Amino acid sequence: MGGMASTCCRREFLGYGCLGASALALTACGGEEEPSGWTDLIRLDEVPSGSAVKVSAGDRELLVHRSAEDEVQVLSAVCPHQGCAVEVDSQRYVCPCHDSQFELDGELIAGPAQQGLETVTSRVEGGMVRAEL
Ligand code: FES
Repeated sequence: MGGMASTCCRREFLGYGCLGASALALTACGGEEEPSGWTDLIRLDEVPSGSAVKVSAGDRELLVHRSAEDEVQVLSAVCPHQGCAVEVDSQRYVCPCHDSQFELDGELIAGPAQQGLETVTSRVEGGMVRAEL
């Protein structure tokens, strides 16, 4: 008897989840690298032990702190508050803009800056203080 109309309603669900797993190929920049951008700043004997001197290197202003006889530390002179250049004021750095103060090793003494001065990689070579800029 009567034909069965078998209507087949097929709905196809294409259930492909879209996995946005894009593999980022990260290239590791490790390993032994030749130091690049080493710049001479000042002769070590021009910085009395226990004091700091402000120097310019290109368009950067830096602070060379001779923390011990043969130990130096180079800091950025850029105040972390709003970017003025701090000045050496005997045993501390003082920012002329809003009076933030820092120890010679860059530690914050008083704000409005919220953090200390940035350290720059440095070394002494052949009596010359050099920084990696
Ligand atoms: S920029 Fe140095 S205290 Fe404001």
